[in-house]
Amino acid sequence: MWYFYSPIVVFGEDALDHLETIEGKRCFIVTDPGIKSLGLLEILTRKLERLGRSWEVFSDVEPDPREETVYRAAEQCKKYNPDLIIGIGGGSSLDAAKGVWVLYEHPEFKSVDEIHPFQNLNTGKKARLIAIPTTSGTGAETTWAVVITRTKEGKTLKLEQGNKGVIPTYAVVDPVFTKGMPPGLTAGTGFDALAHSMECLISTWQNMFSDALAIGAIRLILEYLPLAVKDGDNMKAREALHNAASMGGLAFGNAQVTLGHAMAHALGAVFHIPHGTAVGLCLPYAMEYCIHDPESDSSIEKLALTAKSVGVAQWSDDNSGAAEKLVEKVKWLQKETGLPVSLQALDVSREDLDENLDTLITLCMESASTVMTPRNIGVSEFRKLFDYMYSGRKVDF
Ligand SMILES: [Fe+2]
Repeated sequence: MWYFYSPIVVFGEDALDHLETIEGKRCFIVTDPGIKSLGLLEILTRKLERLGRSWEVFSDVEPDPREETVYRAAEQCKKYNPDLIIGIGGGSSLDAAKGVWVLYEHPEFKSVDEIHPFQNLNTGKKARLIAIPTTSGTGAETTWAVVITRTKEGKTLKLEQGNKGVIPTYAVVDPVFTKGMPPGLTAGTGFDALAHSMECLISTWQNMFSDALAIGAIRLILEYLPLAVKDGDNMKAREALHNAASMGGLAFGNAQVTLGHAMAHALGAVFHIPHGTAVGLCLPYAMEYCIHDPESDSSIEKLALTAKSVGVAQWSDDNSGAAEKLVEKVKWLQKETGLPVSLQALDVSREDLDENLDTLITLCMESASTVMTPRNIGVSEFRKLFDYMYSGRKVDF
């Protein structure tokens, strides 16, 4: 028996118009300064004004939102007493909004530590949460994860909290917010969505529902990411990618990501490589490593099925060849969209890598994403993978 969790997803051009049908007079908006300065916040507030809703804005969310920021926003939210909370922005704003929602619903909670999977949060009693993504990547509008940064005794810690109660009530997936996004951000966020879909397909938690959405998302990303990178105003491509990111979010939210994300999180923590760039870089290495599993063909079978379903391979191809073609297609997409294919290309020096290798490996071994990896992996394998990744070598072990 398995469950599949999802918000109500409103998607397509003019999805924002659906706000009209969502009850709620007082809206508390959680966002970041960039969304405000880009005029994206105004698209939302203009709509709220037309609908006769009142609102208040907290726009201080920073990238990798800090715990204190979430508490500050929650205090403002409690004073305002809304019946709708709206998170608008990239993953950081949406994560912050989820945290605010829980703390507003539960004023007795002392910290975000209370957001863990082993209790019923029963959210939605005071307000409902609407998540409006402005990038096509994280899938945070659909997932039950909240990533909050804690600084303690000079150390920075990423708290990866999770509870089904933080899944937004509504995900409003309107491509208008992604129109004109610069090529680099489009590529990075697109690869994040691709990595979510690809990694959850081979996850030990994969299931038929997540598979269907993951394969659908991969098809859309392979077709439309190059188009959106070339022409940021191509709304057909924007809509396809925005939907694909939410589909990827639903898929990995219900099946988990694997070693690619474990390695990417470690690279992000040590070398401050943006998440999308890091997961994009790690993806083919993660796929190749799982394809070479000496104990099981499960990854080959899943990736081959995907390759054939999305038209990268023929149905008559043998599974190994088809899975290989999918890896090659991902590598092609990296080059096509200008994403780095090695650590060297990211200006990481050999000395820097060697100096930080033990830290990187420790972070990977501690990562929850490593647990769901289908092929056994340990210290020596991670060491080898980072070594291959340094020079862009094909994984052959
Ligand atoms: Fe991700």
